[in-house]
Amino acid sequence: TSRVPVVQELARQGLKHLPERFLRVQPVHDHDSALSSHVLESLPTINMTNLRAKDRAKELAKLLRGAKTWGMVVLEGHGVAESVLHGVRDVVKEFFGLSFEEKKESVGSYVSVDNMGYGRNFVKSEDQPLDWIDRVTVKAAPAGATEGLHVWPLRPANFRHAIEEYVAEARNIFNDILEALADALSLERHVFLQNFDPNETEINVRVNYYPPCPRPDQALGLTPHTDASALTLLLQFKAGGGLQVFKDMKWVTVPWPKEALLVNVGDLLEIMSNGMFKSPWHRVVTQMDVERFSVALFYNPSLRIQIEPIGDWSLSDDNEGYKNVVVGDYLRHFYRISPTVEKQAINFA
Ligand code: SIN
Ligand code: FE2
Repeated sequence: TSRVPVVQELARQGLKHLPERFLRVQPVHDHDSALSSHVLESLPTINMTNLRAKDRAKELAKLLRGAKTWGMVVLEGHGVAESVLHGVRDVVKEFFGLSFEEKKESVGSYVSVDNMGYGRNFVKSEDQPLDWIDRVTVKAAPAGATEGLHVWPLRPANFRHAIEEYVAEARNIFNDILEALADALSLERHVFLQNFDPNETEINVRVNYYPPCPRPDQALGLTPHTDASALTLLLQFKAGGGLQVFKDMKWVTVPWPKEALLVNVGDLLEIMSNGMFKSPWHRVVTQMDVERFSVALFYNPSLRIQIEPIGDWSLSDDNEGYKNVVVGDYLRHFYRISPTVEKQAINFA
């Protein structure tokens, strides 16, 4: 199997042309900005402080519209202290500032098993173009989980502490949003939240680094995908594009102000809501001479829970709605890779 260096090392070589394995069959079209600015006005911004207040009808209406039509909302007034966000940005930049050898050493193990660890993006198929991204994925919860690798980088020394501080705040945001979504549908407040036992829910942390790319027209930072999670919380270090969402049959750049977080619906919540909330297709485009960082937190119910879709709004003669599914089964299916690519996925030079 051919080994491909991590993207950061490729970017450091100052390539003018992309290695063939990164080339997309279809050129990466920039979105039509006139059209998208018209469409984008309608991506809802939720003020978390107002959502947490008693009188929150207006926020609930925006949240509901965002979850149904976009599968995402911008989050302002989220209450995560600037010092906490600062801490995350600092440790992440410090980690990616290490040499490749130092990074491997810092993580202890650099193989991609269970999609955990440091290295290239997960390769699912021999034929897929590679993504212009490196990442670190760690499981932050539940405490003491035995599945998968716990590969917290050891350098910088406060990496784990900084991320865990952020994760603790994020857990409150996730729970408040799950409760609000039920409220917005006039359902019992705990109908979604009851699947999230604090001792068993998973919070996976994925730190994304997109190095500057010599040909943004020929490669993608992240291939189009939906998230498997129930909810995903996204933090980026700078405003300025990168994340795009498939809306009204077009890829549009998500308008994402610097201080805001972004929440998106994942497949598990689409299933829980019987299709009412949409798990959106999204992708990341690269930029020339510009690097980009983001941190995604994935909130999953306990793996042993069976999800029973709530609500009959999607049902019709030819639509029976979603089936019951065990969370762990869904996630295993989502992350399956064919045996022929397994070696390649874990061998990067
Ligand atoms: C992701 O889809 O996990 C990454 C999103 C981003 O980098 O903004
Ligand atoms: Fe994603």
